Amino acid sequence: MAYQNLDVKEAFRVYTGGNTVTVASTSKDGVADVMTVAWNCPYDSDEIIVILALSHTTTENILDTGKFVVAIPEALQKEQILKVGSMHGRDCGDKFTASGVEYELSQKYSFKVLKNCLAYFECTLSDKELLKKTGICMGHVENLYVRAGLWNEEFHNFKEGAKLALHHVTEDQFLSGGKDA
Ligand SMILES: Cc1cc2nc3c(=O)[nH]c(=O)nc-3n(C[C@H](O)[C@H](O)[C@H](O)COP(=O)(O)O)c2cc1C
Repeated sequence: MAYQNLDVKEAFRVYTGGNTVTVASTSKDGVADVMTVAWNCPYDSDEIIVILALSHTTTENILDTGKFVVAIPEALQKEQILKVGSMHGRDCGDKFTASGVEYELSQKYSFKVLKNCLAYFECTLSDKELLKKTGICMGHVENLYVRAGLWNEEFHNFKEGAKLALHHVTEDQFLSGGKDA
């Protein structure tokens, strides 16, 4: 097999992340925020990791409150996730209001999350020092919700949902179900 040797700085582009997700949080004063995250993965059966720049409002919120909600948007929500991924909560206040992106309240935490996501995970922060030092935000999943009809009870898989999720390629380019989205 022939391989092309790339600059290691391209590693993240080749590796790609999992599903592009959003991370919803609230400030210590209760102001809602949400951002887009391409770099993320599972860590254990009920632990997930999102990688957050330390400068983001979301990071500050999670360090302050210890709680966040990760959601998996669907391909149709591409414009919304580009929008919430290009403005900072500290500049705009409640990002849902500022962006006009529709929301619903998560079931137990009552955090604002993108409306009609494929699934969402209500999480508590597992390791505050790790986030503070590195931007690795590990979440212990407290509650998990999947859009009705997308979970296969027999095989315990999310195949139908995964087909609709967005995978980030670069800039505003995504794939969904293996095709350009
Ligand atoms: C497609 C896409 C993927 C992104 N992935 C990440 C990521 O993995 N980690 C990160 O820290 N920021 C990522 N961002 C940038 C943040 O979403 C963006 O800076 C956001 O405005 C931060 O909001 P906040 O300051 O309100 O928390 C991404 C943005 C886009 C559009």
